[in-house]
Amino acid sequence: MDWLTNTIGTSIGKKLLMAITGLCFCGFLVVHLIGNLTIYGGKDFFNAYVDHLHSYGPLINVAELVLLTLAAIHVLTGTILFFGNLNARPERYVVNKSAGGRTIGSSTMPYTGFLMLLFIIFHLFNFHFADHENQTVFEIVANAFAQRGYVFIYIVAMIIVAIHVSHGLWSAFQTIGASHPKYTPLIEGVGIAFSVIIGIGFGFIPIFIFTI
Ligand code: HEM
Repeated sequence: MDWLTNTIGTSIGKKLLMAITGLCFCGFLVVHLIGNLTIYGGKDFFNAYVDHLHSYGPLINVAELVLLTLAAIHVLTGTILFFGNLNARPERYVVNKSAGGRTIGSSTMPYTGFLMLLFIIFHLFNFHFADHENQTVFEIVANAFAQRGYVFIYIVAMIIVAIHVSHGLWSAFQTIGASHPKYTPLIEGVGIAFSVIIGIGFGFIPIFIFTI
């Protein structure tokens, strides 16, 4: 256990935790987006997908618990790193420089991260903790996205998610050591392509539902 406490105690150890939990979240986003795309197949197709997901029962509960634990680690470690960097300003600039120069993504990471946390809490109350007894998940989503306010919040949130992920994915690869200069443009490209797919993929759903 000593190696674990020692690793978490160092700045690079915390960055490693951020990278691993962040990459797991990127994986979740891909699975969640693929699932959500079934909404284009219509009410029955989407509800059938959700029912199929719920049929896994306790497995889904375990997955949710894992997700919650990863979120807690990511947010807590990110907060510790953020305040640590605030207290050691010169070090903060070194970190930013080594992260390949400042981009909108890199310079806003803590703020976009915090806004994403607020969004996820809002999102869970909208959909996950909604009344599932008297309405289908399609109805829950359709009722929400029939309102301009929700559509607006979701579009802004998806832009924030895309900005966070655009730097996060690249930074995670740097941290785990996949940073050979030869591959830097490729990793940067993958990060941008991924964030655009996530942003547009999720962001277009509220617009689509609003217009049908
Ligand atoms: C238009 C975009 C989105 C739609 C329509 C959507 C839809 C949904 C729905 C319907 C649920 C509840 C599933 C259920 O309880 O059966 C859900 C859960 C969830 N969503 Fe989203 N989602 C969107 C974007 C996002 C984004 C961008 C994130 C993360 C940044 C996210 C994170 C989550 C999480 C963590 C859960 C809880 C997982 C669970 O229920 O097991 N969602 N989403």
